[in-house]
Amino acid sequence: MALALYRTYRPASFAEVVGQDHVTEPLMQAIRTGRINHAYLFSGPRGCGKTSSARIMARSLNCVDGPTPTPCGVCDSCVGLAPDGPGSLDVIEIDAASHGGVEDARELRERAHYAPVSSRFKVYIVDEAHMVTTQGFNALLKLVEEPPDFLVFIFATTEPEKVLSTIRSRTHHYPFRLLPPTVMRGLLERICAAEQVEVEPAVFPLVVRAGGGSARDALSILDQLFAGAGQDGVRYARTVGLLGVTDEALLDDVVGALAAQDGAAVFQTVDRVVDAGHDPRRFAGDLLERLRDLIVLDAVPDAAGKGLLDHPADQLERMGDQAARLGTATLSRLADIVHIGLTEMRGTTSPRLLLELICARMLLPGASTDSGGLLQRLERLERRLDIRTDAPTIAGDPAAARGRRAGGDSDGGPAVLERGRTTAAGAADSPGRPAGRGSQAGGGAGTPSVERPSPPASLADRAAAQGAGTTARAVGAAAQAAGTTAGATGTTTASTTATAAGSTPPAAAGAEIDAAAVRQVWSELLSIVRRRRRATEALLTNATALSVDGGVLRLGIGSTPLMRLLSDPVNTEIVQLSLKDLLGVEWRIETVVQAPTLTDPQADEPDPRDEEPTSETPVRAAERDPEAVAISLVQSQLGARRIDSGD
Ligand SMILES: Nc1ncnc2c1ncn2[C@@H]1O[C@H](COP(=O)(O)OP(=O)(O)O)[C@@H](O)[C@H]1O
Ligand SMILES: [Mg+2]
Ligand SMILES: [Zn+2]
Repeated sequence: MALALYRTYRPASFAEVVGQDHVTEPLMQAIRTGRINHAYLFSGPRGCGKTSSARIMARSLNCVDGPTPTPCGVCDSCVGLAPDGPGSLDVIEIDAASHGGVEDARELRERAHYAPVSSRFKVYIVDEAHMVTTQGFNALLKLVEEPPDFLVFIFATTEPEKVLSTIRSRTHHYPFRLLPPTVMRGLLERICAAEQVEVEPAVFPLVVRAGGGSARDALSILDQLFAGAGQDGVRYARTVGLLGVTDEALLDDVVGALAAQDGAAVFQTVDRVVDAGHDPRRFAGDLLERLRDLIVLDAVPDAAGKGLLDHPADQLERMGDQAARLGTATLSRLADIVHIGLTEMRGTTSPRLLLELICARMLLPGASTDSGGLLQRLERLERRLDIRTDAPTIAGDPAAARGRRAGGDSDGGPAVLERGRTTAAGAADSPGRPAGRGSQAGGGAGTPSVERPSPPASLADRAAAQGAGTTARAVGAAAQAAGTTAGATGTTTASTTATAAGSTPPAAAGAEIDAAAVRQVWSELLSIVRRRRRATEALLTNATALSVDGGVLRLGIGSTPLMRLLSDPVNTEIVQLSLKDLLGVEWRIETVVQAPTLTDPQADEPDPRDEEPTSETPVRAAERDPEAVAISLVQSQLGARRIDSGD
């Protein structure tokens, strides 16, 4: 029978123990300088080299040339203590799992006093030391406290905290670790080369992952793969089947479909997963791992170079693309959903159903073909209508008429929705263009911008028009209201724009949601922002929506330091995403210094064309510390609490 790989490839010297330099190097140095302790504790997860290192330690101590960190390998002691050697009378290995009782300890204690037969040291390797009973440890205590000169104990354990503390405190403790993926892969590759078995490169990450950082586990898996390998060596497809892992291609499919918001493709992939006999739970778990990898890749573009990820180059390229298309926020949202879904899947009798529900949840925002996404879009429309109900109504804008037609005629619906999108996208593309000009406002009046710039006209759109005729009509009404505003404020001078929050008519633009509208949903916005990042919410409570202009939301905030903080991409991105969630708009965020308009209704809205971020008169600015004022105002007016000071 073939010897198991993990026994054939047991390291014979410290140099062959990989991934544990943090313990092997100081150990070698201690041996080199002759600073030998009487008791060692090797701790760490299973299969990472503790037992091997204990034997190497014994070998190093007893080599005729020793103690030496590089045993000669040819002397009697070295030959006896080689990985496949017969052993040595003076190196006694005790498996505490079966010999951890007090009787065994007493017997050991008696024998330990006899000098070594033929070596320098008498070495006791107590493996699985956590299995030694308390009485057993107590029986050894005296020996460990006052050992004869020739005696060395090496305790190896996965649970160092279970080693009696009075013993532990006499040891030099060396914590072993799980092997990092790159190190593990190197080890596997060397062994495959030595065994002359051809292994498809894509197999290694699977084995590394399945091994979970334990070299012994990884080698056992490799053993099994070798056993089943055909003429062409170890193939990826077969490995996937054997290990029950999900084919990367299925993960690529589902992630790609999510990035494209292609609900149909997502559910088809689920179908294929189940058809292929994969466990939906396993798939969800693997999907979570993939999302994790994408998050890492998103944060650290050179993750592969840094050894954080181990994938073939082509796979990395695909994943880089996926990460870029999904974006940071979406990735973490998807990971959250899958993570929560996985816990729900535990013990369920219908894992497939749950997997599909997870997919539905992932597709939700902006999805166009499932009802949840549709609901969410309707929700947004309604929210915007609420915003506009208090705007004055004057008829006469052509856009309003189009809006009304859309309400009456179901075929007109999608067209108007599409036009709305186009306008929104156009505005976002050219942020410098002032909104509120009559002609532009007319183009898409009343039809809100939808978060995805140009999706294909889909079933969902038609459904929206047919199934929600009332909403479409309502949109028309909003268009009417908004169109009016556009007509009234055809200029963009500061004097004609909003002067205070909430109570005055929205003024900045007809087609777009304006600053007043944003202020109306401010508290909702804050709560969405809060879910993403509390610090951003705290900052935002100090800010006011000043204007919406050509796809740019201008926020005023009470002081320069606060303004700098708020304008940090960390914060503006969160505000952007939250606005997108709340209103379906894709705006850039611009920040200027300005006391909150809540308490300063005279403050003019800055001219959108004016790049100078100042609105306080010098006198006012000099009179008081704007930051202190802003903070006290938000505390008194909004009941804000101070979370941190300044930063
Ligand atoms: N750090 C390592 N470097 C190289 N091989 C290792 C390492 N750790 C474990 N192995 C492999 O796993 C097998 C078992 O290791 P072992 O030292 O008994 O682990 P532990 O005692 O930590 O459970 C070894 O024979 C070797 O093949
Ligand atoms: Mg061991
Ligand atoms: Zn030797």
